[in-house]
Amino acid sequence: MKIVSVVGARPNFMKIAPFSRAIAGHNRLSAAKIEHRIVHTGQHYDVTMSEAFFQSLGIPAPDINLEVGSGSHAEQVGQTMIALEKVLRRERPDWVVVVGDVNATLAASVTSKKEGIRLCHIEAGLRSGDMTMPEEVNRLVTDRLADLLLTPDRLSGENLRREGASADRIVFAGNIMIDTLESNRAKAAALELDWILSENTLAAVPQQAGELRAGGYTVMTLHRPSNVDDPAVLGPLVDFLCAEVAGEMPLVWPIHPRSEKRLKEFGLWDRVRWTAGMILLRPIGYHEMLRLNMDARVLLTDSGGLQEECTVLGTPCLTLRWNTERPITLREHGGASVLVGNDVQRIRAEFRATLAMGRHPERPELWDGHAAERCLRAIQDYREKP
Ligand code: UD1
Repeated sequence: MKIVSVVGARPNFMKIAPFSRAIAGHNRLSAAKIEHRIVHTGQHYDVTMSEAFFQSLGIPAPDINLEVGSGSHAEQVGQTMIALEKVLRRERPDWVVVVGDVNATLAASVTSKKEGIRLCHIEAGLRSGDMTMPEEVNRLVTDRLADLLLTPDRLSGENLRREGASADRIVFAGNIMIDTLESNRAKAAALELDWILSENTLAAVPQQAGELRAGGYTVMTLHRPSNVDDPAVLGPLVDFLCAEVAGEMPLVWPIHPRSEKRLKEFGLWDRVRWTAGMILLRPIGYHEMLRLNMDARVLLTDSGGLQEECTVLGTPCLTLRWNTERPITLREHGGASVLVGNDVQRIRAEFRATLAMGRHPERPELWDGHAAERCLRAIQDYREKP
């Protein structure tokens, strides 16, 4: 069997790492080898956003890089489709595997089905219901096209059935991100907090906060266009973060390239830079983020993956969004996160309440570190409906 896996952006890499390892494990034990090719679309290209993850997570270097780079959504998707079509015509795999919901996921899904190649989606069935999110459009198209829908939790399976996906296409495989968390937990735990700061401090940004201690700092990540692209949203948020969060305890903020650009564009960069207690880092590695998360008092984020990691680690999480495609991570479903949107009054109230909370690790069903093996088995067991 031959499988082409397509990845493009940072959150894809931690999902493909365990899948690639599951294939290697299969090949060690079985005579019926699986040929695996990794195609990187090149959507994320900075070392800190891409190559560093391949190295630290032990993912084989991509066999092919399409080098599409930055651009509008149509540019990224269109260029990926044009380049990937050539690759698929040459490789003729039995399956294309896509993960998550980024532009690479959408482009690879459409291209592989147009080439008549079977498509498997890992992390299928997530729905925010918010069609203004580019990721929601990507998820809907991908799941409509995929032959095999591998879901991370039971709620995702329900979404797919409600949309009319037939039961034989859906397999509840568990959360593959948690495979990566479990296999990297010990390595992350061994990192020193101060070492992470000193290695990743943004050039030209002075270190201001001194030592971090367990339970004595907050961590934030922010990159969604809805939070960072509008000065009327980002301005008040930055005021709050500088005055009230960093004023309370050190706030560690690894900055996504999009957010750094916007802070500079909107004249907010110096304010953030010179605020005591604000610790700006460049985009950090997987283990560094996991380590920071393990001992954070509160985590503020608009990332989907971090909501999941907080649930398993028990870190109280404020999700800076009005909706989530991952409701299983919410407190009402036993998770660690609460939706606070980007309204400062609401964030303030929840931040205060959350400071008083302890850690409550939770493990949703099949978030057990073995999802990748189930994903591979589902592909091997797949039989076309007669
Ligand atoms: C993409 C995904 C999003 C995911 C996020 C994680 C889509 C639609 N969105 O958003 O779901 O949560 O990745 O990071 O696919 N840039 C760099 N260096 C890089 C990559 C990007 O400087 O290596 C800059 C680009 O110039 C661009 C901006 O960051 O202006 C945004 O990059 P892009 O890939 O368009 O989307 P993300 O916001 O990263």
